[in-house]
Amino acid sequence: MASNVRPESLERITTPALAEKFITEQLEALRQQIGDKKVLLALSGGVDSSVVAALLIRAVGKQLVCVHVNHGLLRKGEPEQVVQVFRDELGAELIYVDAVDRFLDKLAGVEEPETKRKIIGKEFIDVFAEEAKKLDGIHFLAQGTIYPDILESGPVKSHHNVGGLPEELSFELVEPVKFLYKDEVRVVGKTLGLPDNMVFRQPFPGPGLGVRCVGAITRDRLEAVRESDAILREEFAGAGLEGKVWQYFTIVPNFKSTGITDGKRTYEWPVVIRAVNTVDAVTAEAAELDFQLVQKIVRRITSEVRGVNRVLWDVTPKPTGTIEWE
Ligand code: XMP
Repeated sequence: MASNVRPESLERITTPALAEKFITEQLEALRQQIGDKKVLLALSGGVDSSVVAALLIRAVGKQLVCVHVNHGLLRKGEPEQVVQVFRDELGAELIYVDAVDRFLDKLAGVEEPETKRKIIGKEFIDVFAEEAKKLDGIHFLAQGTIYPDILESGPVKSHHNVGGLPEELSFELVEPVKFLYKDEVRVVGKTLGLPDNMVFRQPFPGPGLGVRCVGAITRDRLEAVRESDAILREEFAGAGLEGKVWQYFTIVPNFKSTGITDGKRTYEWPVVIRAVNTVDAVTAEAAELDFQLVQKIVRRITSEVRGVNRVLWDVTPKPTGTIEWE
């Protein structure tokens, strides 16, 4: 049984030079462990799985098979970026699975937040396991486990993940960043040449935009979440707030209100904006922002996002409000 305690010899990775040293050692260890066998990885495009993919591509090249499951709940441009960076630029063996209809059909009419999470988690494992079954000769399963995942106790993990793996996925594990903290994973990712918007991205929940499309997910409201999120991120980036505000995103609730556009009454959804600062996500404060920026974002969202006539800004601290709405 491999140890789950960070070795004392592992220096805290704070500089590119220390990251280079870690990368060199890991490449050697990965080649030793894997030999000429094949490795499977679920590549979401998040920091952890992206860094694991980049390490494995360097270590064993085409022996790595990446599977990217597009469940329809990713942010605008994310699935495309995964394909571009890993298949086109790094030459990875990448299977892209368009599972959008499958997920949205399963979620249709489901209102309860934890049930939505469970469906998304289970469906993800099912799709991934089906892809794994189609492949021959896989010996290892790579995972982007990081040290806080190991240190965190049961309840947090069960909130964020979906229990054990099915038999189809019972391969030997490869976990090259399991002793690293998030900031160290980012330094390693940057040193490996991954794009900044992949390495320094804000936290994004596993169930993705699904928990921001309140209640039963519909395609039109989900599109409003995705488009408003893209506008918010673009405006925050333009204002130099990327990496300065801890987490920011939009929510589309399942109610409508009256408004007016071009002299005509409308009855449409609001977009809720949440922008928070926190140290550990246990407590959080609404980020203080320039009011002109706020007004610009409101103008853009109400004029560019279909089906939206109003914007609300959620300034509730945690507690009492959680960061996400579901
Ligand atoms: P809350 O909403 O509980 O969120 O204040 C705290 C942090 O956790 C993220 N979050 C999740 N991450 N799966 C995840 O991987 C989830 O189901 C989930 N729910 C919340 C949230 O985005 C915030 O950063």
